[in-house]
Amino acid sequence: MPSAMIRSIIPLGVALLGATSVLADPPSCALDKKCPKEAPCCSQYGQCGVGAFCLGGCDPRMSFSLDSCAPAPVCKDKTYKMDSLDRYRDISKYLGDPNEADWVGQGEPAIYNGNTLLTMPPKSVGTVLATTTYMWYGNVKAKVKTSRGKGVVTAFILFSDVKDEIDFEWVGVDLNQVQTNYYFQGIPNYDNSGNISVSSNTFDDWHEYEIQWTPDEIKWLVDGQVGRTKKKSETWNATSNQWAFPQTPARVQISLWPGGLASNAKGTIDWAGGEIDWNGGDIKTYGYYFATFGEITVQCYNAQSPPGTNKKTSYYYNNIAATNDTVVDSDKKTVLKSFGATGTNMDYDDGTATGAGASASVHSIPGGGQPAGQVPGGGTSAGGSSGGGSGAGSAAGCQTTGFSQSCNQPGGSGGPRSVDRTLGASAFAIVVGIAGLLFL
Ligand SMILES: *[C@@H]1O[C@H](CO)[C@@H](O)[C@H](O)[C@H]1NC(C)=O
Ligand SMILES: *[C@@H]1O[C@H](CO)[C@@H](O)[C@H](O)[C@H]1NC(C)=O
Ligand SMILES: *[C@@H]1O[C@H](CO)[C@@H](O)[C@H](O)[C@H]1NC(C)=O
Repeated sequence: MPSAMIRSIIPLGVALLGATSVLADPPSCALDKKCPKEAPCCSQYGQCGVGAFCLGGCDPRMSFSLDSCAPAPVCKDKTYKMDSLDRYRDISKYLGDPNEADWVGQGEPAIYNGNTLLTMPPKSVGTVLATTTYMWYGNVKAKVKTSRGKGVVTAFILFSDVKDEIDFEWVGVDLNQVQTNYYFQGIPNYDNSGNISVSSNTFDDWHEYEIQWTPDEIKWLVDGQVGRTKKKSETWNATSNQWAFPQTPARVQISLWPGGLASNAKGTIDWAGGEIDWNGGDIKTYGYYFATFGEITVQCYNAQSPPGTNKKTSYYYNNIAATNDTVVDSDKKTVLKSFGATGTNMDYDDGTATGAGASASVHSIPGGGQPAGQVPGGGTSAGGSSGGGSGAGSAAGCQTTGFSQSCNQPGGSGGPRSVDRTLGASAFAIVVGIAGLLFL
């Protein structure tokens, strides 16, 4: 089955904004439908805009020009303790400087007992976090306790801006195995998946999951044991004359999302173990579904010559083929001056550096781009495409959860969380909405 992220490749203009939006829906983008000049960047979710649309996930093949997306920060060896949200930023507050943040995301992460929880409150679309730097091959391992329940999906993946992808995914009714998968440029291939059994319950017990990725093979390990190997040599596609093997710089992404949303297609719901129960399971006890991430370690490939180097500042693509030999390890900078800036106009300053594109006339935050402050309360928009109800807004977690110390954590500053939640939820809702369509 395709992963959470691959489903976002189907470029449909999913209408998802609530009535509060002052802008029209952002234009959609695809390989044969590049973004227009005034909204040049094609986001991970297949929609055009500026600002955050031009950062992580921006697909140069679908953008106005190859250089519309901002260059991507190179790999850094690092152990992320995951015991604090100090170096996490909502995407509405991040402009591309990896020195400022390790993780950028949408939804509601929280800290509990020194680990990071990805939460999914009732009728929300969950939480997704991605690293601010990119791995061009290398190893990444994570200590994970998955979520559980029908329709609840936990994911730990590598995802490149041109949709190369390597996955671990856990379905919440199947706590004794992990599903693995890989994609080349987002091209669906249902033969790419494989399961690995896990020695004990993935919800109750910590296990360590690792991806070892070289130019020649991918290994998926559980608790230090290789559970699956895929060699590049096995992936030749004679139709396209290419190795259908992940080969471009990728962010580490961790997420919790509702595969079993009632409005999703039957194929998705079945794969996810059935319709999600918003009144039962961990919602009843804690106020949300949750997956727990402990320490995550990234070890760069550190090649001496391309592919797989991380000698300079940033990666960019010099050819639309987006294969291993078109990635340039360069000195180009990665930071935008404002949410109105783009890869070709990085120093453009419309005064929105701190406020999520308040004055922008085009979308600047993927998933709707509602200007901050114009979204009254939470939960007005997430249900739009997912049909999942009233959005991510319900903050039930804070009243009912045993994890009460986490209530003030997300975002760190006690800022207007309802706005963040709505923006985040609507962006992630695109993924979920499209997930449904792929399985029609
Ligand atoms: C993996 O496990 C799931 C759930 O049991 C099953 O539906 C699927 O067919 C398995 N995939 C493979 C490749 O065996
Ligand atoms: C080979 O590549 C073509 C063109 O991208 C694609 O349509 C096809 O699905 C690929 N075949 C396999 C087996 O992945
Ligand atoms: C890219 O991959 C191809 C196929 O494996 C390989 O022959 C080539 O040397 C690689 N290109 C670079 C720049 O490493």
